[in-house]
Amino acid sequence: MDDLRQKYIDAIANAADEGALEQLRLQAVGKKGEISLKMRELGKMTPEERQVAGPALNALKDEINSALAGKKAALADAALEERLRGEWLDVTLPVRPRRQGTIHPVSQVTEEVTAIFADMGFAVAEGPQIESDWYNFDALNIPPEHPARQEHDTFFMHRAEGDNRPPHVLRTHTSPVQIRAMQAQGAPIRVIAPGRVYRCDYDQTHTPMFHQVEGLAIDKDISMANLKWVLEEFCRAFFEIDEVELRFRASHFPFTEPSAEVDIRCSWDNGTLKLGEGDDWLEILGSGMVHPKVLAAGGIDPNEYQGFAFGVGIDRIAMLKYGIPDLRAFFDSDLRWLRHYGFAALDVPTLHAGLSR
Ligand code: DAH
Repeated sequence: MDDLRQKYIDAIANAADEGALEQLRLQAVGKKGEISLKMRELGKMTPEERQVAGPALNALKDEINSALAGKKAALADAALEERLRGEWLDVTLPVRPRRQGTIHPVSQVTEEVTAIFADMGFAVAEGPQIESDWYNFDALNIPPEHPARQEHDTFFMHRAEGDNRPPHVLRTHTSPVQIRAMQAQGAPIRVIAPGRVYRCDYDQTHTPMFHQVEGLAIDKDISMANLKWVLEEFCRAFFEIDEVELRFRASHFPFTEPSAEVDIRCSWDNGTLKLGEGDDWLEILGSGMVHPKVLAAGGIDPNEYQGFAFGVGIDRIAMLKYGIPDLRAFFDSDLRWLRHYGFAALDVPTLHAGLSR
């Protein structure tokens, strides 16, 4: 009996897999197994012999059964371990660099501009890109016969047969948002309105869709001096330079009176642009004091309130700040360009952490 026990206990301990284990089970305690046959022989024994052999055989059977169960569990554990080792995966690994997208310079600059003006108390206002003729032109003191209408290279929407109203347009500038914001909020008001605008034009510095940011500040005592300070402050923060000098050049826009185009002092050293120093001037935006008719169109009493407005080309200041030569490439979706000029997705521009780092 001792030999029998040793034989099976050893074999079970060495079984390689569940199949081998099952084989051993049949061989030992199966119906025709060695132990079962031995149990059948109990009948031929004397009562005395049986009293000794019976319990011993039962104990052996129990022992083998529990060795089988123990080994089966151990094999299952080992198989699970093996599988876990094979399927292990490190969820803390960083994203593969090539799969990472970038933030487009237009989005980056829009965020930067928004952060700067938010710090000066300007909220963000929005308006539709398909705009009525009235909001895009009339309300801004550009009546139908005004020559400024020709300068805007407007895209007109389709008009239904027999409809004689002026067709809607793709807004040619963000200025109509001035009117919508004044109507919605009244005065005093301080907003910027970044967004897409459209003009039928295409060359190195013009694309049919581009971006502007409009600014509007109306209160009882806002003057052109406030305009100048706000724009200087903006340029200092946006271009990330300590010294800026702006030049206000008399100009004309129908929606402002007086109007000024604003130039920033710069130099071109061997073709590289430096802002804030030098003997050249670069035009960066249009501005002025909001025309009384525009205030009235926005539902604000021009005898009580006044203020300034300005309009900046977002793509243009993005090109200046980040040295991007051709505007058309902004909208080509060329991955090489996007990887080169794009910004890291998690570098959100803030004034305290630095706008562009
Ligand atoms: N809307 C003008 C344009 O697209 C830009 C502009 C000029 C906006 C002067 C203004 C402003 O608010 O005061 O050409």
